[in-house]
Amino acid sequence: MHMPYFFRRVLFSVSLVASVAFLGAPSVQAQAPAKGQAPVDLNDTIDDPAVWGKLYPDQYRTYLKTVDQAHTKYGGSEAFPRSPTAADPRSSLTRSKLEQDPRLKAMWAGYAFSIDYRERRGHAYMLDDQTYTGRQKTNPPSMCINCHASLVTTYLKMGDGDLMKGFDVFAKSHMPYPEIRRQVQHPVACIDCHDPQTMQLRITRPAFIEGIRALKASQGVKNYDVNTMATREEMRSYVCGQCHVTYYFKGPDKRLTYPWDNGLKVENIITSEEGVNEWVHPDTGAKLIKPRHPEFEMWNQGVHGKSGVACVDCHMPEMKENGKTFTDHQVNSPLLKIDRACTGCHKTPPAELKARVEDIQDRYFDLRNHALDALMDLIGDIKAARTANADARLIEQAQTAQRKGQFMIDFIMSENSMGFHAPEESLRILGDAINQCRMGQLALHGAPVPSHTVLAELPAPVVSH
Ligand code: HEC
Ligand code: HEC
Ligand code: HEC
Ligand code: HEC
Ligand code: HEC
Repeated sequence: MHMPYFFRRVLFSVSLVASVAFLGAPSVQAQAPAKGQAPVDLNDTIDDPAVWGKLYPDQYRTYLKTVDQAHTKYGGSEAFPRSPTAADPRSSLTRSKLEQDPRLKAMWAGYAFSIDYRERRGHAYMLDDQTYTGRQKTNPPSMCINCHASLVTTYLKMGDGDLMKGFDVFAKSHMPYPEIRRQVQHPVACIDCHDPQTMQLRITRPAFIEGIRALKASQGVKNYDVNTMATREEMRSYVCGQCHVTYYFKGPDKRLTYPWDNGLKVENIITSEEGVNEWVHPDTGAKLIKPRHPEFEMWNQGVHGKSGVACVDCHMPEMKENGKTFTDHQVNSPLLKIDRACTGCHKTPPAELKARVEDIQDRYFDLRNHALDALMDLIGDIKAARTANADARLIEQAQTAQRKGQFMIDFIMSENSMGFHAPEESLRILGDAINQCRMGQLALHGAPVPSHTVLAELPAPVVSH
């Protein structure tokens, strides 16, 4: 079912050409530097990656390849061709996660995600996939754009040259999504990760700047400024953490917020989002919240994150071509390039390493299925208890269990590594989530709710030497 390679490439270049034309004329800067001339003068008004690509052709060439799609056992993505329409000009779609597993629809009943939710794919598609998702039916906030477009020039314009102010102005504008959509042209681009003068990595997403400051404050570090205080090694993960994180929209301005003021673990985030209600489940009446793609948070809990192995080490490994060594800008599944992504550190043969990853993912997938079943049973029981007019206090306890259990399961299911980024933590969360569902059911049955404290009160075991 793969779309012919050349066809996809043609489509992509057409959209690039169209956006260049739309931008007006960056053509003066777009000239390739002649020998002895000053190089292209990049600055914060140039967001077109094609212009940056004149100076850095290897990075640009590989960046364009994020349009390619290939499937791995659980990851990557597959292109299913479709006939473009006026309402949705995309010529391919990825697999629907809702069709793959109908339990997801029941879990998110009443919420946008039950309408359309698909496999992710390469960065080249981020703007189109957001513009045309079925979830647009629910009029999502314009803040959605923060992670789906190149935004530096837009934020700077809105804030008269001040990025943080631009973000504020944008939040307070309450503009509808189609209006902000008209102001952006590119998916994430060079300018979003690089300083145009020095090419050093930089953070351009205000919500990350605020989120990581809150996280550091919770660890006793005051006034953390990521762009001056982070190490290069940290930046090789932080640039991804600008978008691959969970979030919610705070208050009447729907200000994009990364809920890290208590820490990055799932329990910390549930605590941070106390009082936030995103939707009410129509069958159970539970007030719910939804996590989204917490790759950064989960990576932080795993052995690689703790050993300082950055997102970029695995997803953008070094490559050599024509005698030059550079960073692979085709951001995709590392399983499609194990020979470069992993074997620099692991001397295990690539096939064996891949088998180990799939082993981790298989175990995770199995428990995830049990957890989803447990959640379905709880939802069914609450629904039945409401129909039978059961004790409102017990129903409320069960609804609280649904809120927590669903958030935990969803947290690692919307995490995109199928358990790999933090295997033990993923299984721990699933185990706890199953327990939440069980406690919710017990409450409905009027049974005393067991808790971990019972174990803690047991006498210490006698250790013989
Ligand atoms: C030690 C290597 C490693 C590190 C470090 C790492 N990842 Fe991954 N990542 C993987 C592997 C392996 C997968 C599973 C890919 C698959 O199943 O095809 C994956 C999957 C993903 C996916 C889904 C990709 C797909 O094609 O399905 C995303 C998105 C992702 N990682 C983002 C991140 C981010 C963001 C970070 C840093 C916060 C990070 N990763 C750190 C190895 C790594
Ligand atoms: C904090 C950054 C961030 C924000 C804000 C954000 N997204 Fe995304 N979005 C991502 C990332 C990262 C992915 C890829 C990982 C995945 O699919 O889970 C993604 C994937 C998607 C996809 C493709 C997969 C799917 O879900 O079908 C769609 C569509 C989408 N987002 C729509 C939206 C909409 C609508 C909003 C606003 C309600 C939004 N996004 C806000 C980061 C963000
Ligand atoms: C999502 C973030 C991201 C985007 C978008 C991005 N880069 Fe990079 N780039 C990186 C990272 C990470 C590195 C490695 C930096 C390091 O190790 O310090 C890098 C390194 C580089 C380097 C240094 C040389 C090398 O290859 O290591 C150049 C030059 C570069 N990128 C150019 C570009 C250009 C041109 C574009 C746009 C076509 C682009 N980058 C888009 C993240 C990004
Ligand atoms: C501006 C926000 C943004 C930044 C920064 C960003 N991503 Fe993404 N990433 C996305 C979105 C959105 C998608 C999903 C696009 C879609 O499905 O249309 C995505 C998709 C991916 C995928 C899936 C690719 C595939 O072929 O299936 C991987 C892997 C990934 N990102 C890793 C990274 C890594 C590693 C970094 C840091 C170097 C990074 N991303 C930086 C927003 C971002
Ligand atoms: C920069 C070095 C580095 C890179 C790159 C790297 N790893 Fe690792 N990996 C480590 C370290 C360090 C550990 C911790 C155990 C140890 O100290 O040997 C580890 C542990 C592991 C483990 C066992 C722990 C667990 O999570 O269950 C697996 C499996 C693994 N790596 C797979 C991979 C794969 C697959 C890739 C490529 C996608 C990869 N690693 C890339 C350094 C790296």
